[in-house]
Amino acid sequence: MTANPEPVLPPLHESLTWLTPLSEERAAGLVGFLTEPAPADVIDLGCGWGELLLRVLAAAPRAHGRGVDSAAPSIARATVQARVRGLATRATFEATPGRDAHLEPADAVICIGASQIWGPPVEDGQPLDYAAALRALRGLVRPGGRLVYGEAVWSAPPHPAATAPLSGRDDEFVTLDALAELTGRAGFEVVHADPADLDEWDAFEAGFRHRFTRWLDTHGDDHPAAPDVRRRHEQQRAAYAEGYRGVLGMAYLCLRG
Ligand SMILES: C[S@@+](CC[C@H](N)C(=O)[O-])C[C@H]1O[C@@H](n2cnc3c(N)ncnc32)[C@H](O)[C@@H]1O
Repeated sequence: MTANPEPVLPPLHESLTWLTPLSEERAAGLVGFLTEPAPADVIDLGCGWGELLLRVLAAAPRAHGRGVDSAAPSIARATVQARVRGLATRATFEATPGRDAHLEPADAVICIGASQIWGPPVEDGQPLDYAAALRALRGLVRPGGRLVYGEAVWSAPPHPAATAPLSGRDDEFVTLDALAELTGRAGFEVVHADPADLDEWDAFEAGFRHRFTRWLDTHGDDHPAAPDVRRRHEQQRAAYAEGYRGVLGMAYLCLRG
């Protein structure tokens, strides 16, 4: 008997604007922070499909941007979007591990949910090395330049049901206050620091699960892979709703170098 092939789920960019819990309103604020005054150059490390970088370039018509992500499909999507939005001459996207990108310091830098570039991979389940990320990012921000740093934090004390679907440890993340202190030690001034709210998280998680329901709608309940897709959907729902909702947070820090 041959094993069922792995179901190919629709790409996440079809159900999410960003690969992070981020409202349109907050995104507009981050773009404003990065573009007033207008930067000459912008770097996005772990840019995903480049949505935030492209919005920054649209808001700063003289700026040039470079987005780096290790996921080739995301970079392919970002490259197409740059062309569609008339930004291809000012936006460059590279599918490469962030550490291998040869980058010069820039006026504006974005790094959201990608600190693992400078530390252990998420799959290793180790504490996130915020300090290593912030040190590396400090070297990429020109003096007086700006960094939008987004990273996971504990919004409430972690408990076993919350940590079980994550790495299982209480020390994987720190609190927002502890993170703000780390940014200071790395040489940044905190201009603004705020955690994503529950509406942003609920929308993000719903978008994340949407690819399972879309697959089931397209392929039908009789498909041999349907039980597996239903199981994964339920696993994701329970991990969030009965686990890390309100405990795992996402902090957005607007920092000056
Ligand atoms: C949580 S997602 C955030 C994506 C994007 N910044 C956003 O806000 O939508 C983290 C991104 O980091 C990328 N990433 C993970 N490890 C990386 C590495 N070593 N080098 C470059 N990108 C990496 C992933 O492919 C993913 O796109």
